[in-house]
Amino acid sequence: MHVQAILTGAVALALGRLAAAAPATDVVQATDVKAADTTTTINANSNWGTWEGWGTSLCWWAKAFGNRDDLADIFFTLGSHQFAGQNLPGLGFNIARHNAGASSWNTYNGDKMVESPNIKNSRQMEGHWLNWGSTDPSSSSWDWSVDVNQRAMLNKAKARGANRLELFSNSPMWWMCKNHNPSGDSNGGENIQSWNLKDHAVYMATVAKYAKDNWGITFESVSPFNEPSATWWKADGTQEGSHVDVATQATIINELRTEMNNRGLSSMMIAASDESYYDQAASTMQGLGSTALSKVGRINVHGYQYGNGRRDRVYDLSQSNGKKLWQSEYGENDATGGRLASNLFLDFRWLKPTAFVYWQVIDGGGWGLIDGNNDNVSLGSPSQKYYVLAQFSRHIREGMRILDGGSGSSIAAYDANNRKLVIAYYNSGDAQTVNFDLSQFSQRPADGTKVARWRTSIGNGGDRYVQDTGATISGTRLTSWFETNSVQTFEIGNVSL
Ligand SMILES: *[C@@H]1O[C@H](CO)[C@@H](O)[C@H](O)[C@H]1NC(C)=O
Repeated sequence: MHVQAILTGAVALALGRLAAAAPATDVVQATDVKAADTTTTINANSNWGTWEGWGTSLCWWAKAFGNRDDLADIFFTLGSHQFAGQNLPGLGFNIARHNAGASSWNTYNGDKMVESPNIKNSRQMEGHWLNWGSTDPSSSSWDWSVDVNQRAMLNKAKARGANRLELFSNSPMWWMCKNHNPSGDSNGGENIQSWNLKDHAVYMATVAKYAKDNWGITFESVSPFNEPSATWWKADGTQEGSHVDVATQATIINELRTEMNNRGLSSMMIAASDESYYDQAASTMQGLGSTALSKVGRINVHGYQYGNGRRDRVYDLSQSNGKKLWQSEYGENDATGGRLASNLFLDFRWLKPTAFVYWQVIDGGGWGLIDGNNDNVSLGSPSQKYYVLAQFSRHIREGMRILDGGSGSSIAAYDANNRKLVIAYYNSGDAQTVNFDLSQFSQRPADGTKVARWRTSIGNGGDRYVQDTGATISGTRLTSWFETNSVQTFEIGNVSL
């Protein structure tokens, strides 16, 4: 039954069908025990990596709202915050991805940026390198005064404890592009001019160096591409983007390593290639060649393949090449939190990243964790998805060891310093009791101990991060009642591996 539970759980999640694991239910009923109980065994001997944190990309929302201390508190602390009439538990992010913009509105030698007819100003990120006249960051070819709000939020994040900061690029500066349009090529092909490959590396390295010397910001990593294998970055697009062929990526990675080293940034990592899909990440990793790949410290992959693709392949390739692995960008428009939950569980089980970064924490159409409009700079309410993410980001914390939770619906993490076990479970089926077998741990709380739990319903309302002690240690198990379609998180003290 244990094996069946794993398989049916994984398949149900993979298919995006969040129905009860029918065969497991049948087995339980056949033995005439209390109907529909599920048991999952936490594997105390497993080690799926040391968690590095949770975060968000800054970019558009921070261009609009980067001056707001309340939002910095909400996203980058664990405190409680009154917002839009709700008492919001802070998400406690420690990761921020700062975007090196691609846009500027100057004219140089008669050339100027070509703008997509469909791009919103809120998505045009101001870049610092205005023209090809000089690589000297103190020359008039560079403007360090732009992008005020995004830099403000970067500083606020750091001041609140964000300790893993990444510099990333959606497109090279407009003037490095063949058509001078930083939204992409007219057909979605490669847009960077062949003589500007090194310039893109110089741009990223110079911004990283300038930030270290002048902003008090030491990026942990620099990511020079965003979804480079995608063919949807087009001249009439709605945002900055750039297709980059894998061979060109390799050249730029090599150049970037050299330019960063030349500026005393040899310990700053390169992350690549921030592909959209798991399968693209695997194929790009295999196509970069050993020289470029040896210069990549971390594989960044985005979650836009959702319930499809070979997450396990990306993990295996990262492991065999000795790379860290982050889920560096994830987002969708499901404000109920259901898709977020199902994809998070798939990621923890099959991709095994050591960080998870949400794309835009403020956005419209269900994409944001808080509804907002970057164009008219107005904010709405937090969605259910906000509280779903809190179930994970507030409990699975940096430094914890990720364990095999025993099924596709179960995540476990162990905090060795505090001898604390964290379990998050997603009941996508009928209301039921879920038992967590803790017998593999050498020590656990005594029979009858009440355990802290937090509950959030998937949907448009219902429980929102409700805390109680409704879970109990029963023998060698933790037992808890779950309503249908809900997530619970547990923190169990006095546990030894
Ligand atoms: C901003 O746009 C949203 C739609 O996204 C609308 O509901 C809201 O009323 C607008 N606010 C202002 C201040 O214009």
